[in-house]
Amino acid sequence: MDDLALAEKIDQKRIGASSVAEQVLRNIGPIVMLGPPGAGKGTQSKRIIQHYRIPQVSTGDLLREHVKQGTALGLEVRDIIAKGELVPDHLVCDIVAWRLREPDAQRGFVLDGFPRTETQAIWLDAFLKFEFFENGIWASYLPIVLRIQLDYNKLLLRITGRRTCPTCGRIYNIHYQPPLVDEVCDVDGTKLVTRDDDREEVVRERIAAYERQTKPVAEHYKRLARVTDINGDLPIDEVTARILESIDGKTQGAAGSKN
Ligand code: AP5
Repeated sequence: MDDLALAEKIDQKRIGASSVAEQVLRNIGPIVMLGPPGAGKGTQSKRIIQHYRIPQVSTGDLLREHVKQGTALGLEVRDIIAKGELVPDHLVCDIVAWRLREPDAQRGFVLDGFPRTETQAIWLDAFLKFEFFENGIWASYLPIVLRIQLDYNKLLLRITGRRTCPTCGRIYNIHYQPPLVDEVCDVDGTKLVTRDDDREEVVRERIAAYERQTKPVAEHYKRLARVTDINGDLPIDEVTARILESIDGKTQGAAGSKN
């Protein structure tokens, strides 16, 4: 079953699910996916965007694309990413600002892997307030923050088993979510790749960077009562169902309350 068919099946099963027509008309989010490397942010972001028909804005994907294209930014960040460290705030905020101003992001978006430092979170709050809220069609400028949690050893196993399709971006896992044919994408037949920064020694540094620099982001949004914790140690469909239920609850609850 493809992701869209799956998302529709989950829709039918969910209690209180809104209709596709309602989802098309209303603004969603903004939604922020928080969680350590390998927790499932990318996997779940792809399902959320299919459900609500909004774009995924993954700072990791945007940065990797710059590296691949050999742009000035790509050359500047290549070694930083390879070491598992965070790219400087001003560079990441710039690419996010540029992306969120695109027409397809005006109804909503899922931020995957951003913000990752408290400075980025404060920048985002201000950006959303002045660029999105002031046009009066958003219920709130503060994002819905979904934090996916999983323990250390499972994160390592998930990341070292991850394979990605370089053509369509679909994410697989040789342990939990293998392709039908070994190392080949189910959707377009492309040979799957392992990310350069998925080597174990780099993954350890990425997880350490999360502990050091991204945990304060969760504290920032907790103070604003925006965080919902999601157990990432459940089957993928179940994690999706909990996330969609949470987003729907918050979107409906926020309607009309201009905070
Ligand atoms: P980025 O690309 O954002 O990587 P990450 O945050 O480290 O997250 P991952 O993509 O590794 O994991 P994920 O949570 O998306 O997991 P996935 O769904 O793939 O960032 C890369 C680098 O870019 C950073 O290190 C940094 O240098 C730079 N960067 C990016 N953003 C930045 C920022 N804002 N500021 C500064 N620097 C930045 O799942 C993992 C695996 O598990 C998959 O194989 C999947 O199939 C499997 N899986 C998922 N869910 C389940 C489940 N429920 N059960 C079983 N298996 C599952």
